[in-house]
Amino acid sequence: MEKTRIHLKVNGEDREVLAPVHHTLLEVLREELGLPGTKHGCELGECGTCTVLVSGRPILSCLALPVECEGREITTVEGLAAGAALHPLQQAFAELGSAQCGYCIPGFLLSAAALLRQRPHPTRQEIAEATAGNLCRCTGYLKIFEAIELAAERMRPSATESARG
Ligand code: FES
Ligand code: FES
Repeated sequence: MEKTRIHLKVNGEDREVLAPVHHTLLEVLREELGLPGTKHGCELGECGTCTVLVSGRPILSCLALPVECEGREITTVEGLAAGAALHPLQQAFAELGSAQCGYCIPGFLLSAAALLRQRPHPTRQEIAEATAGNLCRCTGYLKIFEAIELAAERMRPSATESARG
């Protein structure tokens, strides 16, 4: 099988991989880099479960070639937490019980993280639009939207300052 050497920056680390030339970014993340948090779904660009951030923007890793991502910062769900501290989105999803089977959640977390970076005060409509490409078969979406709103509230500078007193 023909392989190619690729240099990727994933979750802040420079990684060199030798991967089959036909492997998508999703396959390279999971199989060559050992990062199974990004999930296989439809592999047709329809479910959003494979969402990762590339240069801060959500992309569908099942449709991306790793070589297109060389030199750009890739963030997977494994890179959201800061050490032992969960990302505020992860914390809010856990507190509100927003996941059921959980399969779709990494994709939602990354789409939401990209939204909150751009829009600290998103409306419910903006949250729905930003996550429209992420499908969930279990939850009915309400608790996911509420968790994103809770995280947004906690991440705003005013919330951090008042928490510090
Ligand atoms: S697995 Fe990529 S969109 Fe479904
Ligand atoms: S929690 Fe099961 S698909 Fe979303």
